[in-house]
Amino acid sequence: MPELVPIEPAAHIMSIDYAVRGELDKIAKRLSAEGKRTLNLNIGDPKKLGKHPTPPELIDIIVEKLESGDCLGYGDEMGEPELRQIIAENTRKDILGLNNKPITKEDVYIGNGSTELVTFCIEGLLNIGEGILLPDPGYPLYESVIKKVHGEPQFYSLNRGNWGIDFSNLERKISENTRAIVIINPGNPTGKNYKKKNLQNLRKFADKHKLVIFADEVYSYLGFYGGYHTSIAKLEGDYPVITFGSLSKNYLSPGLRVGWMIRTDPNGLTKKYWEAAINKLAGIRLSSSPLLQYALKPAFTERKAKAHIVMKKEVESFNNELKKKADLTYEMLNHEKAGISCVRPQAAFYAFPKIDLPEGVTDFDFAKDLLIHTGVYVNNGSGFGPNSKGHIRVVFLPEYNLLKEAYDKIIDFKMNFKENGKPKYMAR
Ligand SMILES: Cc1ncc(COP(=O)(O)O)c(C=O)c1O
Repeated sequence: MPELVPIEPAAHIMSIDYAVRGELDKIAKRLSAEGKRTLNLNIGDPKKLGKHPTPPELIDIIVEKLESGDCLGYGDEMGEPELRQIIAENTRKDILGLNNKPITKEDVYIGNGSTELVTFCIEGLLNIGEGILLPDPGYPLYESVIKKVHGEPQFYSLNRGNWGIDFSNLERKISENTRAIVIINPGNPTGKNYKKKNLQNLRKFADKHKLVIFADEVYSYLGFYGGYHTSIAKLEGDYPVITFGSLSKNYLSPGLRVGWMIRTDPNGLTKKYWEAAINKLAGIRLSSSPLLQYALKPAFTERKAKAHIVMKKEVESFNNELKKKADLTYEMLNHEKAGISCVRPQAAFYAFPKIDLPEGVTDFDFAKDLLIHTGVYVNNGSGFGPNSKGHIRVVFLPEYNLLKEAYDKIIDFKMNFKENGKPKYMAR
């Protein structure tokens, strides 16, 4: 028989390290399969962590549409026109091109979560070797997609004391190959709620360097400190902003996989990019599920109606709950003796504590040992940017008491970590 040769994967794909679904996830799954208890603080999924109900209106309309048989053909590649129109109309007052050029349905795409639309935006923009400025720490999706298209992730470090944008650092990181800049507001993994001034300066920066801004605002409703959320697209600027939104977080429904993006482009600079490149990419995948897209209808139009009040109440009570959990996180994960410190989260459901680690021990080692020995599953900080080593990300969605138990375990584990250079904890 001729020699059997393994099928080798693409090297550049193998070089992608996706912290949210990486090696730790495999260990956690193995522990669960062995019947061991894990305390999961690892994923921004309000369905998996805690008991957070999807607004019933979103489900009702999907059932109704399914029964009517209306939505069983392929949809429009941009998203259902009726729904894009609704998004355009209902975001006009939140997100408006400065020249008051109204957003129309042609400025909106709907896709399989904001993730798919981010992918289109990056794939449609970058030539090989071109780069995008990314916040560090930031959500790893952007780095991964840039690597997929042989582009260059260009990380700018956020201020360690408050996760604000450090413009001197940003100026150092830009190169002649830079095409765009990403801002995640509210931040994942930082929980940062950006102030208007910071955002206005970012628009000035983008104008100066002729960049498109990708504004990831999937947590826009989930703010409990630092005032209301500000959309960067609303502020003064000449270069375009593409804003991403989603039913996943604000509407507690990540499994629907419904997201949208909105273009604000006062000077019409994205015509070819948006109408040719992105449209082509959207067309290649035919469409996202028209049926599930219909959940957008109550999410947007019921703003004025009774159902929206129900949703609004849900968001308010969710934010109150998040605030309590953010406070608990801040109080417990600032523990001098254990060598753990944490910026107070202002929005979303993440915190990014710094862990003082002994020489030669990485945040990955720490997170892995923590998982194996205590069952507490957090993400390693280095997965969120090259300058974010020595951190862990915690997701504070689980029930209050479970969080408390997990934080106690983290502190206890850290206090006893590598006593005299040897791990005190033994494998379970
Ligand atoms: C900052 C950020 N952007 C985008 C996404 C992707 O969300 P979606 O479910 O809309 O694809 C996530 C998911 O965790 C996220 O944290």
